[in-house]
Amino acid sequence: MEITPKSLYLRRRDFLKLGAGATLLASTAALARAKTEHGSKLAGVKPNPKYTVDEKQTPFDDITTYNNFYELGTDKGDPSENAAALKTRPWTVEVAGEVGKPKKWDIDEILKTFPAEERVYRLRCVEAWSMVVPWDGFPLADFLKRHEPTSRAKYVAFESVVQPSMPGVKGYAGIPFPYLEGLRIDEAMHPLAILAVGLYGEQLPNQDGAPIRLVVPWKYGFKSAKSIVRIKLQERQPTTTWSQYDGGAEYGFYANVNPDVDHPRWSQAKERRIGDILRRKTLMFNGYGEVAPLYAGMDLRKFY
Ligand code: MTE
Repeated sequence: MEITPKSLYLRRRDFLKLGAGATLLASTAALARAKTEHGSKLAGVKPNPKYTVDEKQTPFDDITTYNNFYELGTDKGDPSENAAALKTRPWTVEVAGEVGKPKKWDIDEILKTFPAEERVYRLRCVEAWSMVVPWDGFPLADFLKRHEPTSRAKYVAFESVVQPSMPGVKGYAGIPFPYLEGLRIDEAMHPLAILAVGLYGEQLPNQDGAPIRLVVPWKYGFKSAKSIVRIKLQERQPTTTWSQYDGGAEYGFYANVNPDVDHPRWSQAKERRIGDILRRKTLMFNGYGEVAPLYAGMDLRKFY
């Protein structure tokens, strides 16, 4: 029931034989953990009523103590425990490749230039758990357009930070770093795709990908790279961390949430909302059916 590389998966297999029980235990452990300290408030963030979900929002303490951020450790509680190992100032984000106006931004200039709004999105992890998160962010399209993509910009590559102080980057996490992800340009330009800089009206906690991360709510959570330092527009499909790990056999490039296409090691038909006991049905595109035209002509019963 985990995204874990097979090496770790095999070590933990006996525990995981418990199946749903194990995930339940994991979430109970998350609830029992110490509460996360609150960060600075973001100024002037207003909810965008167009992007909301009529479902209970996952509590702040669950969103910030039940994490996947392998650079800070592979257990769900590691990223919050090791959060201080990530330094978020000074911080730059470089935009390069097929753009008329490449630029290396200081994060504080990004925060000033692109005002954040609140968007409440479902987050569906490939491991079959989910949350409802009130993100603060701005459309990725607005950010990309500012750099004037050329006609050869067919894809967008995202790179997460690597800092030697981060305990997971030393190799035992089982996946290569830096964490790399990518989108097709039309996916990146879709109004639902955002760069998030906060949640619950506060600066993004380190464990959730401070100071800036991707959020692509119709795809499995692993597409949403955290703590981004480089964005490159390019003609060819980017290499991703998870495809380097297993040739894309378990974690595809598209990775659209799809209840009808199982992960090779588990079903994707249902998910467990963190905080709930009973599992709920997983929705096609995680409930964001408006993205379907992006995939016209692709056979949605296949694994991509
Ligand atoms: N980004 C980086 N750099 N490293 C990671 O390990 N994990 C991914 C994604 N982004 C990950 C990452 C996975 S598997 C998920 S489900 C989401 O982050 C989890 O985001 P959250 O911890 O804020 O809920």
